Amino acid sequence: MNKCLICEAEYQSFVDFGEMPIANAFAKKEDLVDEYKFPMKMGFCKSCKMVQLAEQPERERMFHENYAFFSSTSNYMKEHFKKFANSVCELQELNERSFVLEIGSNDGIMMQNFVNRNIPCLGIEPSKNVAKVAREKGIEVLTEFFDLKLAENIITKYQKADAILSANVMCHIPYMHSIYDGVKALLKDNGVFIFEDPYLGEVIEKTSFDQIYDEHVFLFSALSVSHLASMHGLELIDTEFQITHGGSMRYTLAHKGAKKVSNNVITRIKNEMELGLHTPEAYSNFSDNVDKIRDDLISLLIELKNKGKRVVAYGATSKSTTVANYFGITPDLVECIYDTTPIKQNKLSPGAHIPVLPYDQFRQSDPDYVLLFAWNHATEIMKKEKEYMANNKHWITYIPKVEVS
Ligand code: SAM
Ligand code: TMP
Repeated sequence: MNKCLICEAEYQSFVDFGEMPIANAFAKKEDLVDEYKFPMKMGFCKSCKMVQLAEQPERERMFHENYAFFSSTSNYMKEHFKKFANSVCELQELNERSFVLEIGSNDGIMMQNFVNRNIPCLGIEPSKNVAKVAREKGIEVLTEFFDLKLAENIITKYQKADAILSANVMCHIPYMHSIYDGVKALLKDNGVFIFEDPYLGEVIEKTSFDQIYDEHVFLFSALSVSHLASMHGLELIDTEFQITHGGSMRYTLAHKGAKKVSNNVITRIKNEMELGLHTPEAYSNFSDNVDKIRDDLISLLIELKNKGKRVVAYGATSKSTTVANYFGITPDLVECIYDTTPIKQNKLSPGAHIPVLPYDQFRQSDPDYVLLFAWNHATEIMKKEKEYMANNKHWITYIPKVEVS
């Protein structure tokens, strides 16, 4: 039995991945001594409906000066965050007297849009290497972890915010009550807190189990977010589905009673209840579904190896750490992973130790099959590689099921 991070009720895990490394701990061979691992299990709390990791490594092991995830590697995501920022400008009628805060601003992919429009803004980003890239774009960044204490300091040194934004960060933070207390204190009366994260409904429907890794301590739904908001005098006033990161949800919160609640929220919660996300039954087949994908993919990779086919992977994603380690994909099944992120290149992938090579070498490597670890960027990547792959090469994808195309 585990204790819920939100309501402290006891709950049971529904999937157990065994010992897992840090998803972004790409390392040189000589640095791979005593690779850190932790027991990775996900559970559902019946009481407050939160889906959560039973254990998470300390935050400094994941977010530091060598953090390997740089948001701006995807052109699609640059466009996505430009539209996100523009929609906030309209919603809150922002101007040069407004103040916008982003929690987990990474390399400035979202904040640069506010800087371009002369809207005062501040990024909070504890990983120093990615924060440096944002500063080089002219964005003011505090290299600290956001929590209630930091929120109080920001109120003293700056002002309250018209909008607090966050993308793919809230689900990373186990100390949610301090975050929500901080947001409550920092928001102007008319302010909004808008965040997006991988959506629980999609993970369950597609069996996208690789959304589960050390950094993803929560998988949110409108059900769990509205409950959490109500514990802090906040209210879920809107939800909007996003196709990013394999299916995400954008949640808009405001002070309780300050703004009209959209019909979207009622419909979304109704849909989630129809899917049964409020009951343990929705999660009961998840583990078996993951194992079916594992068995199918490993059989395929062994068959291809026996036929003398060469298989490489594309995108050294955080998600791929769960796939490679839980499935037991080693370099004899998948030769290497090609990736555009310099900090990951010429290193070994966490746990499975598959070599990560610069993307520039992908086309000359001439593989027969390409395992798409970055399936969440499939549209962008498949478009880019269309001509090359037409040359009798095949993609292998595995969410929601194993397919060769
Ligand atoms: N927002 C970006 C995006 O969507 O591409 C970056 C997402 S990245 C997966 C998560 C980021 O959250 C990392 O840059 C990490 O350093 C940051 N982070 C983790 N815990 C945080 C906290 N308590 N406060 C602020 N940022 C945090
Ligand atoms: P993410 O799934 O966590 O966003 O990570 C995507 C990874 O895939 C990141 O390491 C960069 C890599 N990538 C490429 O190598 N080529 C591409 O075209 C894209 C979009 C991503």
